[in-house]
Amino acid sequence: MAWQLIASVAQTRDREITPVRAGELEILLCRWQDRLYAVRNLCSHALKPLADGHIEQGAIFCPVHGGSFSLTSGQALTRPALRPIATYPVKIQGDQVLIDVDEIVQLPD
Ligand code: FES
Repeated sequence: MAWQLIASVAQTRDREITPVRAGELEILLCRWQDRLYAVRNLCSHALKPLADGHIEQGAIFCPVHGGSFSLTSGQALTRPALRPIATYPVKIQGDQVLIDVDEIVQLPD
C-alpha cells in the first residue's frame, strides 16, 4: 500500500473532474453524489486524456469519441470504448483525499 495525499475534499465539486498528480501519474478525481473516485487520465480507446470529459450517472465520458467508463469499476460502458480504464482506491481522512497508487483496480488490456 502506498497511500498518497493528493488533494483536499474542498478542492472537488460534485459532478466535476479534478486533475491531480501522484508522482508521474496523471489522476482524475471524480466526484459523483458526494463520493470520490480516482481514475487514470487516459482513455483506453485511443489513449487520449479524459480530463476534459464529463461525469453523468456514475460514469466518466471521454471528450474525444464519447466512450464512457464506470467510476467504480473502470469498465467500459459505451462504445467505441471496449476496454476498462485504470482506477485507484480512494480514502478520505478529514478533509484529505488519499489514493493508493500501487493498487490499480483495473488495468487496460
Ligand atoms: S479516445 Fe476516448 S472514446 Fe475514443
